[in-house]
Amino acid sequence: MNKFVCKAGMLAVPVFVIALTLTLQAQSAAKLTAVPLPPMGWSSWNSFSNTVDSSIIVDQAKAMISTGMHKAGYQYINIDEGWWLGQRDEQGNIVVDPKAWPALAPGERAGDMSNIVRYIHGLGLKAGIYTDAGKNGCGTEFPDLGPGYPNEGSEGYYNQDFLQFAKWGFDYVKVDWCGGDKENLDPAIQYAEIARAIHRAEAITRRPLYYSICNWGKQSPWTWAPNIGGAPVDIWRTSGDIVDPIVANSKNGSRKANFVKVLSNFDQGIHPAAQHTGFYNDPDMMVIGMPALTDEENRVHMSLWAMSGAPLLVGADLTKLSDATRATLTNPAVLAVDQDALGLQAVKVAEQGTGLEVWSKPLAASGSRAVLLLNRNASPATIAVRWADLGILDASSATVEDLWAGKELGDFKSPYSAQIPAGDAFLLLVHGSEGKLITYKADSAGNQTPGKQSGLVAKASSLTFKDVASRSRVARIQIAYTNPDKKARIAELRVNGQVATRIAFPPTGSGTGAVWLQAEFDRPGAKNVLTFSLANDPGPAIKFIAVD
Ligand code: GLA
Repeated sequence: MNKFVCKAGMLAVPVFVIALTLTLQAQSAAKLTAVPLPPMGWSSWNSFSNTVDSSIIVDQAKAMISTGMHKAGYQYINIDEGWWLGQRDEQGNIVVDPKAWPALAPGERAGDMSNIVRYIHGLGLKAGIYTDAGKNGCGTEFPDLGPGYPNEGSEGYYNQDFLQFAKWGFDYVKVDWCGGDKENLDPAIQYAEIARAIHRAEAITRRPLYYSICNWGKQSPWTWAPNIGGAPVDIWRTSGDIVDPIVANSKNGSRKANFVKVLSNFDQGIHPAAQHTGFYNDPDMMVIGMPALTDEENRVHMSLWAMSGAPLLVGADLTKLSDATRATLTNPAVLAVDQDALGLQAVKVAEQGTGLEVWSKPLAASGSRAVLLLNRNASPATIAVRWADLGILDASSATVEDLWAGKELGDFKSPYSAQIPAGDAFLLLVHGSEGKLITYKADSAGNQTPGKQSGLVAKASSLTFKDVASRSRVARIQIAYTNPDKKARIAELRVNGQVATRIAFPPTGSGTGAVWLQAEFDRPGAKNVLTFSLANDPGPAIKFIAVD
């Protein structure tokens, strides 16, 4: 029995029906819907810690333009902790130091953060700001390069502070967790409340605020952070800081990068099932170009973040970038891997002994994969990639390009092998014949499973696809759907009863669109069960899914 939901002023929308028809077809015709891509920009924390002020931000914003970083795609200038010393006026409004944040143009008042936002916007860039979900910020606990002050958090002032950020004109807000952690707050509850405060602020100012959650992977944010509190796009940190905290009041400029942390932050950031449709794991701001990393390590770092589809927030001082660092940060072929339109994350598809790894990131162009051959060991080694491990069907032919060198290497039979120096990596673009996806149609004559309340969803409709097969443990899923609204509709997907992932379905107009995600298929053969449930009402009308 098919179920239709009719709403006043709305077309009848078939909500959820079951998969009955099983067909084999090549990558199907539904057009890829544009999803928000990972943010790119610069953040003050890694180089300037809590010594940040207006003159630093002005210099960095200028350098973003003069270095060609903006042209390459970087757009945010994010002010991290230290901009505010925890003071409020009698009405609870944030009060900032007029000396640190002076007037920058005639007619401006010192101590008004909209001055710096106007300056950043004037250069064609976007501006980000920082707060904590608790009463105190991290600076209270860990003073770092400058002194720490109490009350640098927004708890008790969510509506007021986020409205203030939006009124100042900020486009992006990072919300830390030191205060929340100390007070034993529940991050899923606090961050949802903050998302709602952001919505209110957006409704009042009509300015979108990008939402960056920073609770360092505690309580597994990839399971609750996507679309939290209705956030249309968001990112969440998956690990601790990539730079070590510095002892209080040590000299500015003593901050160093650490390649071991680069690798471990990358590892902790891999949660491919949560990353799709505009929601991103965040392995932290980058340390490329900071003291202590070699040019090779910078290149590996960039390759890892691009494979992750991670937010690309540069932490180095932009006024001091070497030519090599600039080239690493702005290589268009590597940026294109990070910014690929599918919005997915790399998966480790093979390990040839400890520390010799093959990673694959599915790209929007049919049959294309970004492939990283990563040698974590202290001696050079040969790493081989098999086309079958990438989901490329024809083992006799695929083209290989070295992305850093910008060089076609030729057409190769599977496997392709390369000698990788110690602690280094090769970033390749492999292009071959796309494996056929199996399509499961949502049939209008299908049965509907009884809905279940998942705790995360308000409504009870659900759609189940049974006996779903996949070739790989982490499989790609294409979902074809329609959404005639002006904003994204949301549904949740559970594979074999595992943790649900919240999926955004952007508008499609009257046509059919497609989004992609990846999910772990933990049952062999065609035994997997996929259940979609509504997270808001109405949900997308799902036409079919296609599985790799
Ligand atoms: C935490 C965050 C960092 C930075 C500092 C500021 O440690 O993880 O990214 O924002 O706080 O104090």
